[in-house]
Amino acid sequence: MKKYDTVGEVMITEEEIRERAAEIGEQITGDYRGEGVILIGILRGAVPWMADVMKHIALDVEIDFIACSSYGATTKTSGVVKINKDLDSDIEGKNVIIVEDIVDSGITLNYLKGYLENRKPKSIRICALLDKPEGRRADIKADYVGFTVEDKFIIGYGLDFNQKYRQLPYISFLNE
Ligand code: IMP
Ligand code: MG
Repeated sequence: MKKYDTVGEVMITEEEIRERAAEIGEQITGDYRGEGVILIGILRGAVPWMADVMKHIALDVEIDFIACSSYGATTKTSGVVKINKDLDSDIEGKNVIIVEDIVDSGITLNYLKGYLENRKPKSIRICALLDKPEGRRADIKADYVGFTVEDKFIIGYGLDFNQKYRQLPYISFLNE
């Protein structure tokens, strides 16, 4: 595997992530038994995690994606998030599971949850690969969490720094 001098130690291996994804997929299967779910991945960071989790959900599964961006550092506190790509699917009456790479301040998810609630889904839950509780500024909690991480800038397995490192098959941190 290629070594990058800007990448720190491996914090979570690919195998650990895959095992956790299987556990969560099985948990979702149990929680929604007899029903279907629609997984909504937040582009682009959620892609590898969502691909892992969905393989372990033994229900009727639909998938869709949404892309958003924060209005920038100064307006971050306002919680205003811009939708860059909306859903293609109708979610009314469906069990929605938002799939995200990391919950940091929670501002993005807090906004998105409200945005999607307006479309009257049957339920909404959140499934995040990582949770960084020390960063939290909005009152939001993921229902399914892969791993809790310390307050470092995380990269790999979908998470980027300036759009790089998303392809790393493990979770690491930026080594400046
Ligand atoms: P929020 O602060 O919870 O709204 O997080 C918004 C987005 O910031 C997340 O979906 C990630 O894409 C990104 N983000 C937050 N923390 C990190 C990190 O440690 N590494 C890479 N991206 C991050
Ligand atoms: Mg993201």
